Amino acid sequence: MTENKSEPSHHGMDESSHRQYPNETLKLLIERGSCRSFSDRQIPNDVLELILEAGIHSATGGNLQPYSIIKITDAATKEELDRLCGAQVFVATAPVDLLFCIDWRRLQRWAQLQNAPFAANNSFRHFWISFQDTIIAAQSISTAADALELGSVYVGTVLECFRELRQMFKLPDGVFPVVLVSLGYPKVRPLPKKKLGAPVIVHDEKYHESSDAELLAAYEEKYPSWQKEITPVRLETFERVCREIHGEEFARKCLEAIREQGYFNVAQNYFGLHYQADLMVDRNADFLQITEDFGFGWFKP
Ligand SMILES: Cc1cc2nc3c(=O)[nH]c(=O)nc-3n(C[C@H](O)[C@H](O)[C@H](O)COP(=O)(O)O)c2cc1C
Repeated sequence: MTENKSEPSHHGMDESSHRQYPNETLKLLIERGSCRSFSDRQIPNDVLELILEAGIHSATGGNLQPYSIIKITDAATKEELDRLCGAQVFVATAPVDLLFCIDWRRLQRWAQLQNAPFAANNSFRHFWISFQDTIIAAQSISTAADALELGSVYVGTVLECFRELRQMFKLPDGVFPVVLVSLGYPKVRPLPKKKLGAPVIVHDEKYHESSDAELLAAYEEKYPSWQKEITPVRLETFERVCREIHGEEFARKCLEAIREQGYFNVAQNYFGLHYQADLMVDRNADFLQITEDFGFGWFKP
């Protein structure tokens, strides 16, 4: 999944700033960006250990740390991961990939060895919190990497290959892959991307729904003049998605709007072309089955 430079990216717009910050931590947090291009420079062991330690010291529900991190440096394994994750080449070129997994297996074994009751694999509460624990650890690692002038990017497409990952990394029951992080020294330091601002994201005291005009203006500010060219293949895909989800009449209306405006807008690209709405709801039953196959039963009566 490489970016075509002649086309706008769904990742959004770069934002350069000459802003002053009260300290380096805030600068680091606000000016961060995902890194998808790594140099050949290897990560010294002590640097990697420090970065991992930063993740391991994250907040975690009950201080239970129900996660494991698979550290991957083997070239053949990284190439296989690149392929499985939808040809995202940086997965192979990064010196290190980290696979973050929910891990109730270790706690289950500990409970057994200590004559304690255990049902975390069958508890939505535990699953929900451990998902958050896992991501929070990943984010601390990503921030620590930035602080040491490395770069990183999350790779969410591991969800397309859960079963293969289970085989590749010999994951036992109770261990569930959540996300991959590719890590290394950037070829070029990534620029931060434009985001919706605090006035849109933060609600004072209660949820406040903006007007349609305010909402459209906020997204226009995030993706100014974003347009994607109309091609017959894209039109066909877009029409199929609209028809599948909302029916013929909706598809006709949308196609008319696209022909009139002369391009795909950013929302149409996100939900009609990039994350095709009909495919996004596909495989829900399979994911439940995978969850069960991985030793979790929290969704069963
Ligand atoms: C859960 C998650 C999954 C992601 N998966 C991918 C991915 O598969 N490929 C990719 O290139 N970027 C991936 N990203 C990175 C996002 O595209 C990126 O964070 C977003 O475009 C905003 O850009 P920024 O991180 O530079 O601010 C992912 C990010 C998150 C948080």
